[in-house]
Amino acid sequence: MGKVIPATEENIKLGAKLLAEGKLVAFPTETVYGLGAVFCLERAVARIFEAKKRPFFDPLIVHVASKEKVSLLWREVPHEVEVLLSHFWPGPLTLVLPRKETVPDIVTAGLDTVAVRMPAHPVALKLIKYCGFPVAAPSANLFGHVSPTRAEDVKEDLGDEVDLILDGGVTSVGVESTILLFKEGDFYLLRPGGVAVELIEELLGRKIILRKGFAGPALAPGMLKTHYAPRVPLYIFEGAVEELGKVNLEGVFVLSPFPLSFFGDKVFVLSEKEDLREVAFRLFAALRELERRRAKKALAIPVPEAGLGRAIMDRLRKASRGVARVVDGKLVFVEKV
Ligand code: TXA
Ligand code: MG
Repeated sequence: MGKVIPATEENIKLGAKLLAEGKLVAFPTETVYGLGAVFCLERAVARIFEAKKRPFFDPLIVHVASKEKVSLLWREVPHEVEVLLSHFWPGPLTLVLPRKETVPDIVTAGLDTVAVRMPAHPVALKLIKYCGFPVAAPSANLFGHVSPTRAEDVKEDLGDEVDLILDGGVTSVGVESTILLFKEGDFYLLRPGGVAVELIEELLGRKIILRKGFAGPALAPGMLKTHYAPRVPLYIFEGAVEELGKVNLEGVFVLSPFPLSFFGDKVFVLSEKEDLREVAFRLFAALRELERRRAKKALAIPVPEAGLGRAIMDRLRKASRGVARVVDGKLVFVEKV
């Protein structure tokens, strides 16, 4: 139980066999590790919710190893969706469309739609292919905690609740997939992620609707106050970074996307070369590192909200307890309401 084994060909086959028997297998994707069960084995899918302590109203993404398999899940594939799949699959893009009756209610939380994606990771693709069925898989973390980018993170959060953990190293994208809902001819952004919205808009030649607080499911995690939260109180810094150089940062860790000239040893720089892909890649590991170091408080410096920056800021906001500002030469923390 909960054994971490390297994702060799033989072990992927073992994982596929366990999945087909109704067991839970955690596996790497290019975004984060997923906790998988065969989508139509309801008892196995129920165990995913139990293992994660995830409420049943929060639907799962179903993973496929080839585009053709979507015909098992979606009623139809509109032309514009087909265009997106041809361009971005396999990859970190999830689409939400009306579901077929064959998809159990437990997977979709009773919604009339199902979220599907084809991951761009050889281990995930082989595992799904060998098991022969689409695989329902949320991120393999405890509900509300930071998503796992390494096999050890899965072990730490879920341990014995998982039957097998396939170790395929660190995930390369580091934030979850972008989720789009296609409804009555329009695309709605449900979650920014590994594929930048701008790239999708460019391909489609039209805008995606970014309705704030848009509720796909009855209650999406995006609507919860904190999600992806480390056990360390994290605050987003508002203001000019230079102001921070003048205040007392005793006991505060600083998470900075890019190098800062004036800080000491408690600064995590996520990307020395100022690359947002690297920031996304290291973000969740850094949040878990804050816990390991038992930081009392942490401060995150924001990135511009464009491209991958949109997903990074979304995760930082959900991980944070509020904002911090410099007022009269002092750092002031303001909790979210
Ligand atoms: O990158 C990813 O997407 C990772 C890897 C493992 O593939 N998976 C992932 O799953 O992030 P999860 O369960 O942690 O997040 C999926 C999100 C949830 O917030 C859920 O509410 C939303 O997708 N979702 C799933 N089905 C939906 C539906 N039918 N309508 C609206 N939102 C849906
Ligand atoms: Mg998740």
